[in-house]
Amino acid sequence: MTSQEIRKSFLDFFKSKGHTIVPSSSLMPDSPNLLFTNAGMNQFVPIFLGEQKCPYDPARATDTQKCIRAGGKHNDLEDVGMDTYHHTFFEMLGNWSFGDYFKKEAIDWAWELLTEVWKFPVNRMYATVYSPDKSLGDPSEFDQEAWNFWAEKFTSVGLDPSIHIVNGNKKDNFWMMGDTGPCGPCSEVHIDLTPDGDTRGSLVNAGSAQCIEIWNLVFIQFNANADGTFSPLPATHVDTGMGFERVCSIIQNTRNFPVLTG
Ligand code: GLY
Repeated sequence: MTSQEIRKSFLDFFKSKGHTIVPSSSLMPDSPNLLFTNAGMNQFVPIFLGEQKCPYDPARATDTQKCIRAGGKHNDLEDVGMDTYHHTFFEMLGNWSFGDYFKKEAIDWAWELLTEVWKFPVNRMYATVYSPDKSLGDPSEFDQEAWNFWAEKFTSVGLDPSIHIVNGNKKDNFWMMGDTGPCGPCSEVHIDLTPDGDTRGSLVNAGSAQCIEIWNLVFIQFNANADGTFSPLPATHVDTGMGFERVCSIIQNTRNFPVLTG
């Protein structure tokens, strides 16, 4: 697939699941706590916070968002030029639920797109789930619900969930746009790109170009307040972000996977 076909395939997939395709917002964000737009969800903050009514029916959207992460909470600048998968500018593909579907559908559709439509080799896929370190005061609880949904997926293809699901702490698995704003536990999808694809999760979140995150599914449930506390939001939401260039590089460099099937 060409990059245009990959982008279109993502948007068409979520359109077929009732999502409205919306344009990318400007790189200059409305949020006063951001330097540049750093994620697809930025333009939807007022909807997540319940300050604005969702204009989509059903309450779902999908897009590809231009992003720059050059400061603040998500600062990729130190990594640009040092590895092969951080860039000064990137496109983030995403799908959103505004108080509509939640973890089950988000995980079902991520699995369907990756394994059935794009044919990613399942043995090379790892999912992470939020496991707070309570001794450090991390918010919320272990995300058993997400673990169970991923476990069902890996078990259905004969893979061991205890190997293919990796727990992560607040730094890796509790996503916040900035120090304040909508946030929640997240589940990321990582792909093992080693020649044999047999690292059993050991490279997940280890800073290796041989195993990279391609998609983050955020389950937005809280607002982070300026005083460091977290307030539950009036509704629960889904906010996903997929690294378009990373997915293109994997699909294209493996010529749609025959080169890397494990
Ligand atoms: N909003 C999800 C992400 O940027 O990873």
